[in-house]
Amino acid sequence: MAYRYLWTPLELGPVTTRNRIVFSAHLTNYARDGKPTEQHAAYYAARAAGGSGLIITEEHSTHPTDWPYEKLIHGFHRDVIPGYKAITDAVHRHRTPIFAQINHNGGQASSMFSRLPVWAPSAVADPLFREVPKAVTHAEIDEIVAGYALVAEHCAEGGFDGIELQCSHSSIVRGFLSPATNKRTDEYGGSLPNRAKLLVDIVAAVRKVIGNRLALGVRICGDELIEGGTTIDDAVEIAKIVEATGHVDYINTSIGVATASLFMIEASMHIPPGYAMFIPSAFRKAVDLPVIGVGRFKDPLQAERALAEGHCDLVGVVRGQIADPDFTAKARAGATDEIRLCLSCNQECVGRMGLNRWLGCIENPRTGREAEYAKRSVASAAALAPSTDVAPPMRIKDVMVVGAGPGGLQAAIAAARQGHRVTVYEQQPEAGGQVRLAASVPNRAEFGDMIRNQLTECRRLGVTIEYGVGVWPGLVTEKAPDHVIVATGAEPNRPWWVPAEAEQVCDVRAVLDGSAQPFGSVVIVDEIGFHHATSVAELLADRDCQVEIVTPGMVVGQDLGITLDMEHWWMRAGSKGIVQSTDLVPMGMTGRELTLLHHPTGTNQTRTPDWVVLAVPPNPVEWLYLDLKAAGVSVQRVGDCVAPRRAHAAVVEGERAGNALTATGGGGFRQ
Ligand SMILES: Cc1cc2nc3c(=O)[nH]c(=O)nc-3n(C[C@H](O)[C@H](O)[C@H](O)COP(=O)(O)O)c2cc1C
Ligand code: SF4
Repeated sequence: MAYRYLWTPLELGPVTTRNRIVFSAHLTNYARDGKPTEQHAAYYAARAAGGSGLIITEEHSTHPTDWPYEKLIHGFHRDVIPGYKAITDAVHRHRTPIFAQINHNGGQASSMFSRLPVWAPSAVADPLFREVPKAVTHAEIDEIVAGYALVAEHCAEGGFDGIELQCSHSSIVRGFLSPATNKRTDEYGGSLPNRAKLLVDIVAAVRKVIGNRLALGVRICGDELIEGGTTIDDAVEIAKIVEATGHVDYINTSIGVATASLFMIEASMHIPPGYAMFIPSAFRKAVDLPVIGVGRFKDPLQAERALAEGHCDLVGVVRGQIADPDFTAKARAGATDEIRLCLSCNQECVGRMGLNRWLGCIENPRTGREAEYAKRSVASAAALAPSTDVAPPMRIKDVMVVGAGPGGLQAAIAAARQGHRVTVYEQQPEAGGQVRLAASVPNRAEFGDMIRNQLTECRRLGVTIEYGVGVWPGLVTEKAPDHVIVATGAEPNRPWWVPAEAEQVCDVRAVLDGSAQPFGSVVIVDEIGFHHATSVAELLADRDCQVEIVTPGMVVGQDLGITLDMEHWWMRAGSKGIVQSTDLVPMGMTGRELTLLHHPTGTNQTRTPDWVVLAVPPNPVEWLYLDLKAAGVSVQRVGDCVAPRRAHAAVVEGERAGNALTATGGGGFRQ
């Protein structure tokens, strides 16, 4: 398909975007001591180099009372300006405009870092932080407005081309706009024009300091998805108020409230692409300002279609460009198939934010590490773009990779990128390992894009893959590679409490690959706390089994919380009649009777299901690595065969192993 609209520049006040793809605002946790870092500059520069039409940075706080998470940029200190300059210079080198998002999170915060009470329109505690905020006085409202103006001034001095006011999903402005959190009876409460007064005042103050040199945008929440909150009809009225100020150049959109309905803002693969399109669509019918549509735009075809159908003027692609900084350049070059599609898994982007770590990506080990790769690239005199740098090897090696799961394929990609000759041997008839199985259940198919993306990259780099070949030391001797990377994964484990003679007990993997077909009543034991138990529970419930999940934890699928999958899991579990029982430790089986210790009370319970399905930690398959090592072969291992973990670990280790293949021998990693 030819793109008719995507490559058209668009004027946003004084700024012209390169094209219609926007890298919209998102936290990165790259800040240190409230200041932007080299990590930011390299990260944004990589997306600018990759063709993004406009970059909008993460939020910069406008006031000391606003410090909801540790690594927030404190835009109100002048000492951020050198960091701003480093970012804007790095992005401008690629002729890409860059805006700064500025914000005060209001009551959607805690006093934990600031040791100051949080400020909000009314003393309504946020459901996540559960801290009662201070209802701001008129003098404090003036201080808030002045804070926005001050930070806008710093941004202008730091070289930004525009300012975006985050008035959407986590903001004091949202707090004022929303009837759910604004209970004031003065001129800032009550009617919508009153609730919008703070927004209008901030817009005027910011425009005053930036003049007409910089663009000004406002991000609005189209539907808060909370009881008594802003709905799409209110949001359209807010958009009209924003336009009527005459000071604003564009409107950005979002959906949900970050501290109540975050799972809809950064929707995982369970929510269909384009789910939030009704918001820009409604705004566009009501205002003449350009509108950005955001939310699960996965590929350029979908983005083009949204533009063609008139839903929006620009398309925000956030996780799509976190996963592949060259998203835009590849689409423009007609290489759409080569885009490393985001999986909407939320594991290493949103998930790491929730854990106070720097932003990464499960598929792209370079995300957040662009500065390091750039340095390495310069050091090896291969001064190419960070996402494509290829350091010429001093001696080409024959590399054998054993296993075509995510770790093995990534090792193959990294080694081939360095110019080595790589052959991957996979025992199964298909690539993917556990990822392929994980993607085989309803609503998880997008996870399989990880392997599709890696296979595309392998093809591009000339990696040979031989399927249906089990590797043993004799084959290694016969093929005589210079180096072997073992990625043999992990195998199911039968825990101590399952008697050897027990029948109708199987691992989740056996259900997924069809080698076991449980029926009737099924108890699934969840000791992993992720998608394993919940996915198989859904699969079996769909096959008319009566399913109960038991876990020693306080909640089934505990880590679904950090990937924002928990809410939807609960909805689906409820609708499918899946029972969830917590605090239960399996203690043994006698015949079909399963004994479970309820650890808070010390009492035993029993179940007598037709089948028991195990989602328990597996064992590493390490014999090949150990045999080769003992035989003196140059060998490394990566991923689950080192220690069974999640896919990101396999990808990171695969990348490291491939990159470490220098002319001087093996990988150099002790594993
Ligand atoms: C890790 C992460 C952090 C985010 N932080 C912000 C933020 O600071 N400000 C904001 O306006 N939106 C933020 N967002 C929301 C994104 O701008 C965007 O609305 C959301 O990711 C959906 O777009 P996507 O499906 O293209 O990723 C964040 C998104 C992610 C993934
Ligand atoms: S971690 Fe998953 S959701 Fe996040 S950018 Fe990467 S592929 Fe997309």
